Amino acid sequence: MILIVCKTLYLYLLMGQLINWSTSIIPSLLCVQYRDSTPVLVCSNAFRTFLQKHCPVVAERYCPTPWCWGGRLQTLVQAFIKSRPSVSYRNELIRTADGGQISLDWVDNGASAAYPESSTRPTVLILPGLTGNSQQPYVLHAISQATRRGYRCVVFNNRGFGGEELLTPLTFCAANTSDLERVVLHVKELFPQAPLLGAGVSLGGMLLLNYLARKGSESGLVAGITLSVAWNTVESTASLEQPINWLLFNRHLTVNLCQAVNRHRKMLEKVVDIDYVMKARSIHEFDERYTSVLFGYKSCLDYYYDASPDYKLPRTAVPILCLNAADDPFSPKHAFPLALAKHLPNVALLVTAHGGHIGFLEGIFPRGEGYMDRLIGQYIEAVFEHPGDLKRACSIKQE
Ligand SMILES: *[C@@H]1O[C@H](CO)[C@@H](O)[C@H](O)[C@H]1NC(C)=O
Repeated sequence: MILIVCKTLYLYLLMGQLINWSTSIIPSLLCVQYRDSTPVLVCSNAFRTFLQKHCPVVAERYCPTPWCWGGRLQTLVQAFIKSRPSVSYRNELIRTADGGQISLDWVDNGASAAYPESSTRPTVLILPGLTGNSQQPYVLHAISQATRRGYRCVVFNNRGFGGEELLTPLTFCAANTSDLERVVLHVKELFPQAPLLGAGVSLGGMLLLNYLARKGSESGLVAGITLSVAWNTVESTASLEQPINWLLFNRHLTVNLCQAVNRHRKMLEKVVDIDYVMKARSIHEFDERYTSVLFGYKSCLDYYYDASPDYKLPRTAVPILCLNAADDPFSPKHAFPLALAKHLPNVALLVTAHGGHIGFLEGIFPRGEGYMDRLIGQYIEAVFEHPGDLKRACSIKQE
């Protein structure tokens, strides 16, 4: 493990990042009045007022960890350094219409002081990123934020990644919202009186936005939040194909994806050529050989268009807050739908200059909760504790 970290960090420096890094470390060390340390919040005036009042972290400066400068380093270090708050889950397997199963991990929070009554206890539905599941540090931190406020959590593990067996030759893709629909219906059936909020990280955020756009005002959720979502799949893929990003992230994720497919080989070889999939060298090749084939797309490009949430934002109806860093190697800033969000009453984009992909590390020892974790905590509290204010704020159209 340590060896991999060292090797990767060494490569990082080698690949021409050194100059870039050393010119920016000084401002970071001082974290002085740099114009770009205050995040940009793009939304209507009414939504802004609501957020500034109930979720004040949106107006705070974000200063990255001084020794962890640059989006790539933030992205790398985050995975190794973040603590893992202890969480004990209750697993539930639910069946789907196609005969498959989905693994849900619940944190019931039965000892909640704020919401002792289970039927009305607000619930956070967490959607992890690509190859992620309920054990990811960012999931555990989100749960820690939610449970300390008295809320219940449920993690929706993407099919094939939650440790469950595949019963049908089907896993998941960012465009297909059927499993998420099934999960929301299930949770609403169990707790019809409890408000439900969706929190999606990276690919989980794409899935959440695609779902919210498909369902409009019938989504069953009171609000959503996305963290480091990829807005345009074609642009994200292009960014991840840059040699340094391929070396640091793409290669590794592709290996993880192929391993997962290989784990379910017996079931999946009925519908795809596993040996050909296993030779994929990038996420794009993997999607070309596996995901787009499995879900019946004519081409990978068709799949990527269908999976991109950017142009679908106008179809969403509930309040949504989206955090992205401008230096995220997975989600390039030129693809952020800023112009679109400006005119939507229910969408707020929060863009920090730094933070990388799901990084947002801050302080000298960034093991504990960081900027992103605080944002999640404050936002879900704002949504659950001030529903009237939120509804009013998000129904006012910007002229
Ligand atoms: C998701 O994929 C399954 C299997 O291909 C299909 O039956 C279903 O209609 C798809 N759902 C959506 C929302 O595209």
